[in-house]
Amino acid sequence: MEIFHHISSVRQALHEARAAGKKVGFVPTMGNLHAAHLALVKQAQSLSDVVVVSIFVNRLQFGLNEDWDKYPRTLEADAQKLRSVGCDMLFCPEEAEVYPNGMDTQTRVIVPTMANVLCGASRPGHFEGVTTVVSKLFNIVQPDLAVFGIKDYQQLAIIRRMVQDLCMPVRIVAGDIVREPDGLAMSSRNGFIREDERPRVKQLNASLNWIAAEIKAGVRDFAGLETSARQQIEKAGFRPDYVQICHSQTLEPAAHDDKALTILGAMYTQGARLIDNVSITV
Ligand code: PAF
Repeated sequence: MEIFHHISSVRQALHEARAAGKKVGFVPTMGNLHAAHLALVKQAQSLSDVVVVSIFVNRLQFGLNEDWDKYPRTLEADAQKLRSVGCDMLFCPEEAEVYPNGMDTQTRVIVPTMANVLCGASRPGHFEGVTTVVSKLFNIVQPDLAVFGIKDYQQLAIIRRMVQDLCMPVRIVAGDIVREPDGLAMSSRNGFIREDERPRVKQLNASLNWIAAEIKAGVRDFAGLETSARQQIEKAGFRPDYVQICHSQTLEPAAHDDKALTILGAMYTQGARLIDNVSITV
């Protein structure tokens, strides 16, 4: 696996790959890689000839009191994991390479719909940071396709919309959620979950699945279901951020006759903020 720290060198290598007729797949990450990231890499490998993974902990998408400084940086171990699955290229730039003019005056990419609800409501500016850095990474790598995990459902929906709105020639591919045996969605932040909380955090997934089962059984009191799920999460000892039944594409609160629904939830443990989602068709 070739490792690149500079835009010019990764561009040169990709230019050569494309000139040789190779299709480029891309998996953007913030590192601290686990099985779910490696599944995205494998998915990208199955769809392309050359796979590039980026590791960049993007300060622009973290709020002032969020965990940017605590976010685990495990580059050596990450590179080893990527080698073990046969990844071709790793792009891991320094902040000054990505933001040469600093972040305050950085040109931003804003997706006005969907960015200020759900996770965006409690993390103002987060999705603007994501869409800005993903646009930059797309401009650097110029991939044919990019794979994003469904675990970050709202991020995926916003990126799809950005690509559509800005006519970016990148196919966005969704990667399935990879779960621990008890249902907890794999996440780089799971390492922050305190040991005493770990057996109970499955409640988030359990509550979303409970809503899905109720809807499939014919219940249409969406507000009532959301309230009950929040109560279940509180009873397990956590502070719910939101539980919302949404239209799968627009992420607007679902109407009773919507067919494709996604139930999204977020909750705070003592050590981490966890998110999850479940999609159903009715
Ligand atoms: O999902 C992530 O890890 C990040 O939000 C991303 C897409 C790499 C942008 O920094």
